Amino acid sequence: MTVVRCRDARDVARQAVERLAALASSGSTAPFAVALSGGATPRVLYETLASPEFAVRVPWDRVELFFGDERPVPPGHPDSNYSMVERALLSRVRVTAHRMQAEAGEDAAYDQLIRRRLPENPDGVPVFDVILLGVGPDGHTASLFPGTSALSESRRLVVMNEVPQKGTRRMTFTYPLINAARHVWILATGAEKQPILAKVFGGRAPDLPVCRIRPRPGELTWWLDDDAAKAVPPQEQP
Ligand code: 6PG
Repeated sequence: MTVVRCRDARDVARQAVERLAALASSGSTAPFAVALSGGATPRVLYETLASPEFAVRVPWDRVELFFGDERPVPPGHPDSNYSMVERALLSRVRVTAHRMQAEAGEDAAYDQLIRRRLPENPDGVPVFDVILLGVGPDGHTASLFPGTSALSESRRLVVMNEVPQKGTRRMTFTYPLINAARHVWILATGAEKQPILAKVFGGRAPDLPVCRIRPRPGELTWWLDDDAAKAVPPQEQP
C-alpha cells in the first residue's frame, strides 16, 4: 500500500493523471480498462485528464471507461455520476465509456459487459487496470455502505445495493471485482476527510468498507492532499 501526499487537490489530480497516462501508454493489454468514481473529489481529476496539456498524452483509442457505482437516476439528473463525468471529461475527449444503467437496475448486464471486455485472472475474475475510488465520512467506498448486503457479495461483480441510510438503492462494484484490479486508487482531499482517514490509518476500524479494499496481487494507492493527510500518522499504515 502506498500513500501519495500532494500539495492540494489540483496537485493530486495532476500527479494521478501523470501516472494514469504513463500506465495507459505502457500497458500491452487492450483495452486499458479504468473504472471511475463518482462524488465530488474526482471531478478535478477528470477535468485535468481532459485538459489540452494531458489529453494528448493518453492513448484514448485503447482506453475503455467504466463506472464503479451509480445512483438509480437517468443521465442529466443532478445525482448522476455519469453526467458529472460527461461534463468534466466525456464531452471533451473521444473515448469509449460504458454507462451503468442503474435506473433500470441492470446490474447483471453490466456484470456481463465487464466479463466480455476484460481479461480474467486465474480465478476467473475480470481485471481492471485502474479502479478509482473515494471514501465517505462513514467509510463507504463506491456504493459499499456500512451494514449493506453488497459487502458480503462473493460471486457477482456488480450488484444493486439497498442503502437505507440514503433511502435508495445504488449499483456498485463488489469486493471480488475491486480487489482483482491491478491498481486501486483511493482519492481523498480536503480537511473534511481527516476524521475518516484518522480511523482508517489508525487501524482501529478494520471493518469499515474502505478498509476491506485490499487488491492482491494488485496495488492500493491512497492519493491525499496535505489537508487530508494531516490525519495520517507518517508511520501508520492501515
Ligand atoms: C459516489 C461515490 C462515493 C464517493 C464518496 C466520497 O457515487 O458518491 O462513488 O463512494 O466516492 O461518497 O464522495 P466525495 O468525493 O464527494 O467526498
